[in-house]
Amino acid sequence: MRRVLVLGSTGSIGKQTLDVVRRLPARLQVVGLATYRDHKTLLAQAAECGVRTIGLIEPSPSLALTAQDAYLGVEGLCAMVQRAEVDVVVVALGGAVALMPTLAALQAGKIVALATKEVLVAAGEVVMQTARRCHATLLPIDSEHSGAFQAMLAGKPEQVARLILTASGGPFRTRPLDTFDAITVEEALQHPNWHMGAKITIDSATMMNKGLEVIEAQHLFGVRLEQVEVLLHPQSIVHALVEFVDGSTIAQLSLPDMRLPIQYALLYPERVDTQLPRLRLEQIGQLTFETPDPVRYPCLELAYAAARIGGTMPTVLNAANEVAVRAFLQRRIRFTDIPRLVERAMRAHTPAPATLENALQADAWARAFVSEF
Ligand SMILES: NC(=O)c1ccc[n+]([C@@H]2O[C@H](COP(=O)([O-])OP(=O)(O)OC[C@H]3O[C@@H](n4cnc5c(N)ncnc54)[C@H](OP(=O)(O)O)[C@@H]3O)[C@@H](O)[C@H]2O)c1
Repeated sequence: MRRVLVLGSTGSIGKQTLDVVRRLPARLQVVGLATYRDHKTLLAQAAECGVRTIGLIEPSPSLALTAQDAYLGVEGLCAMVQRAEVDVVVVALGGAVALMPTLAALQAGKIVALATKEVLVAAGEVVMQTARRCHATLLPIDSEHSGAFQAMLAGKPEQVARLILTASGGPFRTRPLDTFDAITVEEALQHPNWHMGAKITIDSATMMNKGLEVIEAQHLFGVRLEQVEVLLHPQSIVHALVEFVDGSTIAQLSLPDMRLPIQYALLYPERVDTQLPRLRLEQIGQLTFETPDPVRYPCLELAYAAARIGGTMPTVLNAANEVAVRAFLQRRIRFTDIPRLVERAMRAHTPAPATLENALQADAWARAFVSEF
C-alpha cells in the first residue's frame, strides 16, 4: 500500500490523481490533500477520501478548521509533506510556489511524483541535487517526461543520443499569423487534445509549455540542451522518443489521458490494469510530425535561450511567464504580449548562479518587474 499526499488536489491533475487512487483501493490510499485557496472543494475531497490532514496556501481568514489537522501557508505545506505516514507526494500546484514543499518532500526522502514543471524550471539544479543528496525518488507525471522515462529504460542513460518531446501545437498551429493580436482568452483555452488547467492550456497555445518541458527534461534526465528536441505531433499519441547512440529510437505511445502517467508514477515500477481506454492505432489512422515554426512560437525560442544562458535565467523566464499568463487570463494584456513581457524581463536580468537563494530572489524580481507592465 502506498500512502499518497496530493498538493493541488482541486486542480485537473489533482482530481485525476484522486480518480487513479479510487481505482486502486488495495494499492493506494490518500493520506493528505492540499491546495491553494479553494477550501470548499478541498473539504469535500477530504470528506470523500476520509482524510483529516489538509493544507491551504492562502486560507480565507473566516475559515475555521477545527475538525482537521490543518497546515497553512507554504511553510505549512513544507511540514505537511514530511509527515511520517506519507510515502508519495504528488506535486500538482499551479506554479513555482510548489518549489519549497517539493524540496521539503525530497529532504524527507519521500517519493515525489512531479506534475508542476515550473519547479524544475525555477530551480532544477537545486531540486536534482537535493533528490540525490537525500536519496529521494523524483518521478515525472508530465506525459512527455513519463514517456521519455519509460523509453529510456530500453538502454543506459549514457547511451542516449537524442530526446524528442512532442507537442500538439495547440489551437493556433494553422491560424494566420497576422491575426494573433486578436486571439481571445476563450480561443486560447480551446486545446485540441487535452483538458487541463487554464495556465498550462495558455502555455500550450504559446508553446511556452514545451519550452518549460525542454528545461524540465534537461534536469530530470541529465541530458545536454542540444540533445532535447521538439516535434509538432497534432494527434498527441506519441509522447516522447528516445534515440540511442546506435540509431535505435524507442517511443512511448498512448491516448492523451493523464491518468496513465499519474498511475505509472504512483505505482512505479509496477504496471497494473485499471481499465483506462486503450490505444487503437487503426482508429487513429495517421501520426504526423513536423518541426515547430519559431515565428509562430516565440516562447519556445525564449525557453531555449534561457536554458542556454542558464543560472537564474530559466527562473526569470518561468516567473515572468506565470505573471504574463495570469494577466492575459484576466484580459489585461494581449496573447502576443506574453512573449514580449517574458523577453523584456529576460533582457533586464543579469543571471546569477543557480543557488536556491538566487532562484528565490530572481523569481521575486521577475514577478515584480512584469507586474509593473
Ligand atoms: N493538467 C494537465 O493535464 C497537466 C499535464 C502535465 C503537467 N501539468 C502541470 O501540473 C500542474 C497543475 O496543472 P493543472 O492543469 O492541474 O492546474 P489547475 O487545474 O489550474 O490546478 C492548479 C492547482 O493549483 C492551485 N492554484 C491556484 N492558484 C495558484 C497559484 N497562484 N499558485 C499555485 N497554485 C495555485 C489550484 O488551487 P485552488 O483550486 O485552490 O485555486 C489547483 O489546486 C501545472 O504545473 C501543470 O503545468 C498539468
